[in-house]
Parts: sequence; C-alpha cells; structure tokens
Amino acid sequence: MKKLLRALAGEAVWPPPVWLMRQAGRYLPEYRAVRATVPDFIALCTAPDLAAEVTLQPIRRYGFDAAILFSDILILPWALGHGLEFKEGEGPVLPKLRGAAGVAALDPARVAERTGPVMETVRRVRAGLTAEGFPGTALIGFAGAPFTVACYMVEGGGSRDFAATRAMAYAEPVVFDRLLEVLTEATITYLSAQVEAGAEVLMLFDSWAGVLSPSLFARHVTQPTHVIAETLRQRFPHVPMIGFPRLAGMQLGGYAREAGVRAVGMDTSMDPAMAASAVPADVALQGNLDPMALVAGGAAMAAEARAIMDAMRGRPFVFNLGHGIVPQTPPDHVAALLETVRAG
Ligand code: CP3
Repeated sequence: MKKLLRALAGEAVWPPPVWLMRQAGRYLPEYRAVRATVPDFIALCTAPDLAAEVTLQPIRRYGFDAAILFSDILILPWALGHGLEFKEGEGPVLPKLRGAAGVAALDPARVAERTGPVMETVRRVRAGLTAEGFPGTALIGFAGAPFTVACYMVEGGGSRDFAATRAMAYAEPVVFDRLLEVLTEATITYLSAQVEAGAEVLMLFDSWAGVLSPSLFARHVTQPTHVIAETLRQRFPHVPMIGFPRLAGMQLGGYAREAGVRAVGMDTSMDPAMAASAVPADVALQGNLDPMALVAGGAAMAAEARAIMDAMRGRPFVFNLGHGIVPQTPPDHVAALLETVRAG
C-alpha cells in the first residue's frame, strides 16, 4: 500500500510520508513558465492539460508521497455561479454575498458541469503518475471546508478577521446556516466526483476555522465537516479524509474526535506534543513546519523538522508544512528538507 495511505489508515510509518501544502506553485520556475501561458489563474485551474502538468511538476522534482490536485478552494463557489476573479498581486475578489437572496442565487445544478475540467485533471494526474513511474505517490483531491468558503463569499475576498462573516453568523443565523448547508451539499457532490475520477485521499481546508468562538466552531466547522466526512465514508469507505482546521488551538482534540476525519492537519502555531496528547492515537497528525523555516533553510530548518519528527515518532504521522509554501522559497531548500525527513 502507498505510504500515505498506510499512515492515514493508522500505521506509524517511519520515515513518515511527506508532501507540502501548495507544493505546486510560484516558487517553481517550471510553474511560472506554464502560468505565463494563460491569461489568469482560473484559466489554469480549468485547463486539464496544464493543471495536470503543474500537479506533476513537484513530483518529478522531489518524488513526494502525495500529489495534490492543482485547483483552488474557490473553484466551488465559482461553479455555484458566484463570481470570482484573481487579481494580480491582490488575491481573490468575489461579490459580497448578502441575505437569503444571495444564498438562493447559488445554483448547485451547475456544479457538475462547471467542475468537469477538474475531474479531467484528476484522471490525467492518476494516469500520469503511473506512466511517469510514481507508483508510490497517492493523489489527494480537496475542497475548502464550508465555513472557509463562506468567509470568502461573504467578505468578497481575503480579510484579517472575517468580521462581516462572523457578524452574519450571529445576526442572521438562519441565512448563515442555509449558506453552510448549500456549501456542504455542493462539497459532497464535488468531492464524490473527484473520487470517481481517481482521487485516493481527500482533504478539507478550513483555513479560517480559528476565527470562531467555541460554540460557532462546533456549529460551522466540526458539524459540517462531520456531515461531509460521514457521507463520503459511507460512499467510499477506502478513501480517507484529512481535515485542516487552521488555528483551531485547543479545539483540535474535539474536532479530531467528532468530525469523523482520519487525519488532522496541525498549523504552524501548534505544539506537536500537545496535539499528540489531544488527538486519538488512531487519527493521524499532519504538519507542521513553519513555511518561513523552509525559506530560511539550513541548520535552523533541519532542527525544527527534527523536533517535529521526534514528537511524532511512534504514531501515525504525515510530514508537511503548517501552512502553504510561499513564493520566495528556494527550491533547493525543499530538497534539503526531504533529505532530513527521509533520514528518519
Ligand atoms: O497545494 C497545492 O499545490 C494545490 C493547489 C492549491 C492552491 N490553493 C493553488 C493556488 C490549494 C490546495 C489551494 C488552497 C487554498 N486556496 C486555500 C486553503 C489553504 C490556505 O492557503 O489557507 C485558500 C484559502 C485558497 C484561496 C486562495 N487562492 C488565495 C487567498 C489565493 C491568493 C493568495 C496567493 O497565494 O496568491 C489563491 C491563489 C492560488 N491558489 C495560487 C495557487 C498556486 C497562486 C495564484 C497564481 O499562481 O497566480
């Protein structure tokens, strides 16, 4: 069985499987070359030949234990008919979703057709991994978790604190619950299609889970994740799910027990030893090297990586970063990190 799948099944594989969030991206010259041939980022996500190519680029360079589908969490709201633009140097820009009418305007019937190119990418990557001689690399499909996707839809883009979204959750609970329900259903449809196209593992990115109070965390993070994870598990019992409730802090243990995922991602701020004591022994942990340690490289990076590994030895674990790789990362540092991790 592939190393990543063994770890996600609860085995303490050593040295641990390793991949990096945002491993396909602007730090790689070969990514920038492909990116320069398309007018914008959405065009790249919806061109299966190019998206499959950039998914495979980091695998060819580093032989990671996982390839992650090249797409974006905001492709789902885009497929629901909510607008989306990626402005150069600014990040995503979306219309600001407001009120029951804003939720009613979303069109789940469009999702299957508009995400067709993503499924074609998944098929091509699976075939490419075999054809190019990477039989041990598992393919991860993904989506944004409903709360984080709602954050971008309500705020109209990124934000420091997602104040409008949190205020809506308190002031208009019926509307907000309905929005999360629509996103939960669409996410189930979208992830099921990815599995049918060849995804072997699924990951839910909940990047802004940590902005919520404990009661709203239970309602808008743990509960929708549970619905998604349970439904997918019933349909595809062999496909494990990784949850990444970023900045969950002390809520990580409760999330790991209740959300129904096989693995939880630790963000950069999390103490791996504390995470290990809070999370059930059969739920794998993933993480959590600071992306800035990878930028710095050298002895500081190696020491951080080894400390994480020391805390994780003997339990199911997947080495990763605590958040996505940043564009200024020297590609050589990634190679050096892999040497450290693979030395056990
Ligand atoms: O990990 C991978 O290599 C797979 C592809 C992937 C991307 N985004 C590609 C991308 C994945 C899994 C994501 C997830 C994602 N997207 C998240 C969750 C994880 C996290 O980082 O918290 C979020 C919040 C988004 C939304 C998003 N997409 C933002 C805020 C931005 C702009 C910021 C930025 O880094 O530019 C994006 C753009 C984006 N998504 C890029 C890539 C490679 C850069 C766009 C480009 O190349 O022009």
